[in-house]
Amino acid sequence: MHCRDCILTEKKTISWPSWPQYGNDERKVVEKVIGSNQLFAADRVKEFEENFLIYTGTNFAKGVGNATQGLHLALASLDIGVGDEVIVTPYTFIASASSILMQNAVPVFCDCDPHTRALSAEKIAAHISDRTRAIVVVHMFGYPADMDPILELAQKHGLCVIEDASHAYGAEYKGRRCGGIGDIGVFSMHQRKSLSAGDGGVVTTNDPEINEKIYRLRSFGHKQLSYNYRMTEFAGALGLIQLGKLDSHNRVRQDNAELLDRLLEEVDGLGVIKPLGCATSVYYRVLLHFDPEKFNCSLGEFSSHVQESGVPLEMTWKLLHKHPHFNPEKVPARGLPWEWSMYDGVMKGKKYDSLSFPVIENLCDNHLLELSVHPPVSEKEIAFAVQVIASAAVKFSR
Ligand SMILES: Cc1ncc(COP(=O)(O)O)c(C=O)c1O
Repeated sequence: MHCRDCILTEKKTISWPSWPQYGNDERKVVEKVIGSNQLFAADRVKEFEENFLIYTGTNFAKGVGNATQGLHLALASLDIGVGDEVIVTPYTFIASASSILMQNAVPVFCDCDPHTRALSAEKIAAHISDRTRAIVVVHMFGYPADMDPILELAQKHGLCVIEDASHAYGAEYKGRRCGGIGDIGVFSMHQRKSLSAGDGGVVTTNDPEINEKIYRLRSFGHKQLSYNYRMTEFAGALGLIQLGKLDSHNRVRQDNAELLDRLLEEVDGLGVIKPLGCATSVYYRVLLHFDPEKFNCSLGEFSSHVQESGVPLEMTWKLLHKHPHFNPEKVPARGLPWEWSMYDGVMKGKKYDSLSFPVIENLCDNHLLELSVHPPVSEKEIAFAVQVIASAAVKFSR
């Protein structure tokens, strides 16, 4: 398709297709679970776990209630706790970092790489201290981080690498699937995610000891403190159905991203961001790069204008170091681990909201836009989006 073919319609606005769209397959398995009278974790969850570990190429997979629980279990299984530091990106969902607080450890935010918008070995190295225990790497929007140098650095310093692969089902880095590359992988099955079950999550690992600890922490009945972080049979059954559809759904996202990329070639100052050459993205969201030099408006004005036509071209997420969890007005009941008297690490005496991360701040404030290209978004919607974006580019052109 050529951009001239975008002028397809007289329509001025569009209703962007929603995600997910559950159908008869999902309805049938949910009804079957109800019919079985077995609603908490049992055979459906086990079968889902067995299929999921094959999908990620890992030795073990454990279903949990959601990815927040998965991240908490990952940190707990590594015995990370009071006085420990965990390096994490500020460009992620709150749970990637709040899970560190759940273990009373200290999150150490780190700037991102300009090409992957994820942590990089170079950026991480500047934050390693004798208290650092682990690194939480997030493959944001399905674009893989550059994992090999991170793993090498982690090995050199005896650190564990947790991949938050909540956006990255099926994304690959040098032929390996995200979530199966570091020591532990965590996935979200929240309704909005590519593998969507309402709520749910998975923890993957190749390490039998970590797997055993996750298993023990996930449910009661063991000597040590444990949780009820079990997956329901509903989520297991829906997960199985959605796993079967995942590759074809990912292909739609990739085809849509490719089409968007091709059509946007004609628009000066805006283009689709690609993954690293050694990686494939699954485009949980497609990221676009906006060049402010080419336009006489801000990133926010541009995206608001496009959104008036129903095309959900959005500014990207707010960075976490400004989040109230790390800058509370009132000290929470469990205290603030970086203010405890026994803590003398890199966050001692610092305020999170005064930290600065020039690379990712500049990208978020001035350059990054995101668009959902999930199925059933089709060529028609992508063409309409490009038409709207192209006309905004003309309107705001310098
Ligand atoms: C990157 C990332 N990590 C973790 C989570 C938490 O997932 P859940 O809602 O399954 O706890 C999310 C949810 O949006 C996420 O986007």
